[in-house]
This record gives sequence, C-alpha cells and structure tokens, in this order.
Amino acid sequence: MKPSAIVYSSNTGFTERYAKILGEKTGLPVYPIKNAPEKGTAIIYMGWLMAGTVADYKKAAKKYDIKAVCGTSLAPTGTLVDAMRKSCKLSEDFPVFNVQAGMNRSKLKGGYAFGIKMLTKFMSKKKNRTAEEEGMFELLLKGGDYVSEENLSGILEWYKNA
Ligand SMILES: Cc1cc2nc3c(=O)[nH]c(=O)nc-3n(C[C@H](O)[C@H](O)[C@H](O)COP(=O)(O)O)c2cc1C
Repeated sequence: MKPSAIVYSSNTGFTERYAKILGEKTGLPVYPIKNAPEKGTAIIYMGWLMAGTVADYKKAAKKYDIKAVCGTSLAPTGTLVDAMRKSCKLSEDFPVFNVQAGMNRSKLKGGYAFGIKMLTKFMSKKKNRTAEEEGMFELLLKGGDYVSEENLSGILEWYKNA
C-alpha cells in the first residue's frame, strides 16, 4: 500500500520544511507528529537526527504503518542511511533515506543547546578531522541551511514506484 500521509517531527524547522516540500511534490497531506492522522495510517515518517537516533521514530512506529523513513541531519545526504537503519532496527530492504538539513543554534533550547555545545567542543578537539567531519564542524560553528528539493530526489523516486 502506498503511503497516504507524511508525518514529521521537527525541533528547529528544517524537517518541517522538508516535509512540506515532499508534500508538495507527492500531493500527500503533511502533519506534525503532535497533530497527526489516525492510528494505522500508512505514512512516510520524517524526523531529525538526534545523537544518531531519529527523533520520535519509536512513537511514530507504535501508531502508524510506516512505509519509509527519512532522517534530516547535519551529515551530508545519504551518509547516515546504514546508521539510521540500525538505530530504528529496520531490515535491509526497508526504504530509509537521509537528507542534509542544517543548524540554527539560535533556535536551540535547554538540553538540545547543551548537547550541541558539547558536540562542538568534542569536534574542536578532534585531531585529523575527515572532510565530512570538517563540514559538520563548520555547520556547528557557523550554522547553515542545506534544505533543497534535490536532496529529496531519492525518496521521490521511491515514492513514484511504491
Ligand atoms: C541534540 C542534537 C543532536 C543532534 N545529533 C545529530 C546527529 O547525531 N547527527 C546529525 O547528522 N545531526 C545531528 N543533529 C543535527 C540535527 O539533526 C539537524 O540540525 C536537523 O536538521 C534538525 O532538524 P529540525 O530543524 O527539524 O529540528 C543534532 C542536533 C541536536 C540539537
């Protein structure tokens, strides 16, 4: 069965923007998880990456028939698919996508702001950062916005054939 809605969890707004773009492109209705459709609905779930886990995935999985998962991250598009699959305990053939989003530290509060402060400190001390880590470190320091329709091309392709 094709998904009939998109449900998302967003803390600072990047995932919400991605969900809305995906909604426009697929014609599916888009709901924040707090105001989501009825139990059992077949959905695409979108959540932000939080210390290697997909925010609110477990909550969504209990309520919905998830057909695909898309995580938004600091890390470049596609690089966290295996890690996400592992953390969500999804099988090899389950559709999992990851898109680079961004960082807006001015919108972070409490524990999340503290977590990012700690991660920035850790990264600043890390020797021999890879090019990927360097990019993430720069995003942490300066902030940035990588939301684009192009990053959704993988999940859009999957949806066309679902
Ligand atoms: C506490 C915290 C932990 C995070 N952990 C990760 C992570 O493990 N990997 C990653 O790529 N991005 C991580 N991020 C970055 C967010 O996933 C990224 O900024 C995302 O775009 C936020 O989406 P939102 O604006 O919808 O909340 C983390 C952000 C916060 C605040």
